[in-house]
Amino acid sequence: MATIDSLFVTKVYRAEITGAKGERLLHELETACLSIAEDDTAGQRWCAKNGYPGYTSYASLDDLPWRIPVFADLAKALDSHVAAFAKEVDFDLGGRKLVLDSLWINILPPGGIHTSHIHPHSVVSGTYYVTVPDGAGALKLEDPRLGFMMAAPPRRAKAKPESRPFVYLAPSPGTVILWESWLRHEVPINEAETNRISVSFNYAWR
Ligand SMILES: [Fe+2]
Repeated sequence: MATIDSLFVTKVYRAEITGAKGERLLHELETACLSIAEDDTAGQRWCAKNGYPGYTSYASLDDLPWRIPVFADLAKALDSHVAAFAKEVDFDLGGRKLVLDSLWINILPPGGIHTSHIHPHSVVSGTYYVTVPDGAGALKLEDPRLGFMMAAPPRRAKAKPESRPFVYLAPSPGTVILWESWLRHEVPINEAETNRISVSFNYAWR
C-alpha cells in the first residue's frame, strides 16, 4: 500500500464577508473608490504615465484607512482573516505581528489587465473584491515551482486543482482572497462591459 504526502503546499485563503456588515462595506467602498479615483489627480497622472489601465491609488495615497472610516472598517475585518491564514500556514511570529502595511484601490476598466507580479517587502497579500461584473477577470495564480519544471510533461486538462500549473479563482463581491506575498499572480483581461473594482493590500511582519 503506497502512501502519498502533499508536501510544500501553497495555501490560498478565501472567505466571503457577508451579512449586513458585508453589504454596508460593499456599498460604501464602491462609492468611496469611485469618488477617490475621480479626485486623485496625482494617482491619475501616475496611471497615465505608467501605462496602468484604469486607476490605482497604489502610488499616490498611502493612508486610506486613516483618511476614510470605511477603509478602517475593511482593515479591521482583514486583520482577522490574515490572523486565521497565518495560523493555517503555521507562521511562528515570535512576539511580532502581521500588520497592514499598505492598502490600495484598483479600478480595472473593460479590456484592462494587470500583468503577472509578486508583492515584495511583505508577507501576506490579498484582495477584497468590491464590484465584479460578469466577464471580469478571475485571479490567476501561478505554481511557484514553474521555473524548476524543466522537462516535466504538461498536466492533464482535467488535472486536480493542486496539480495544475495555473489556477483561476473567480471572486464575487465581498470575497477576500489571501496568499503569501511571493506567490506570482495576475488579473487576466476584463471582458466585462464595466469596471471591476477591488481593494488590494499587503501585510508585513513587524
Ligand atoms: Fe497583486
